[in-house]
Amino acid sequence: MSDLLTKNIKDKHIVIVGGSSGMGKASAHLLAKLGAKVTIASRNGAKLEAAAQGTEIDFAELDTTNEEKVKQWAKALGQVDHLVISSSSVAHGAFSDLATDDLRSMLEAKFIGPYVTAREVLPFLNPNASITFFSGVLSRRSSIGATALGAVNAAVEAITKGLALELSGRARVNCISPGMVDTEAYALMPEADRVQMLNHVGESLPVGRVGHANEIALAVASIISNDFMTGTVLDVDGGHLVRS
Ligand SMILES: NC(=O)c1ccc[n+]([C@@H]2O[C@H](COP(=O)([O-])OP(=O)(O)OC[C@H]3O[C@@H](n4cnc5c(N)ncnc54)[C@H](OP(=O)(O)O)[C@@H]3O)[C@@H](O)[C@H]2O)c1
Repeated sequence: MSDLLTKNIKDKHIVIVGGSSGMGKASAHLLAKLGAKVTIASRNGAKLEAAAQGTEIDFAELDTTNEEKVKQWAKALGQVDHLVISSSSVAHGAFSDLATDDLRSMLEAKFIGPYVTAREVLPFLNPNASITFFSGVLSRRSSIGATALGAVNAAVEAITKGLALELSGRARVNCISPGMVDTEAYALMPEADRVQMLNHVGESLPVGRVGHANEIALAVASIISNDFMTGTVLDVDGGHLVRS
């Protein structure tokens, strides 16, 4: 039974873009514990080093919005068994207020960057590979001030389904749609506001709380392990989509 759970993970090279923080970091640690050879990538070298400290996780700096750098990075990676892309920077703002430059930056970081990264790693994917993207509940559960982010999430879900078909026989392609998860993504908020927001959303959910990054890591491991999953958008959201 444990073979079934780790056969796609143990001794496999798993690359996590966005692995220096939050759900990507939790996934990197879990997969390394399960015996994978893990490489994490993101823009900030110090964050990468801190995330890898005390582990055998390898790391490399990468800004997914720089296409030339993505190409060079992909060529230097070697062969890859599974690619997970949790990197993003998001922008919130009401329809009339969100600056076009902020909209473009979000699209670059959360959609175009991951798209280009997956495309450039594709030639280096081993047989029986998988690619896992990240979207978020806002694609299907609107929130005022997050209309553009919802649309970007929807775009990520659309490429997941399209690529599952297009890359059939090459790689399985899936997407995790998290609900609110307490990660470094909210670290810049004033502490009292952050706690209030997490409590407020948590209380509205069927599970009564927001998520932990390691709960999303379990979903990443599950997608990698399960050869029957492709074209799936997996909601790991504490019931966010069904809350009243
Ligand atoms: N947290 C939530 O409540 C929540 C809810 C729904 C969906 N999501 C989505 O779930 C995913 C993971 O979220 P998280 O909360 O774990 O995120 P996080 O803690 O903010 O981590 C984001 C990661 O992306 C990296 N990154 C950002 N821009 C990058 C770029 N241009 N190139 C390469 N790396 C880049 C960051 O590192 P550097 O700064 O070093 O680049 C960091 O490692 C994201 O797609 C997020 O939008 C999150």
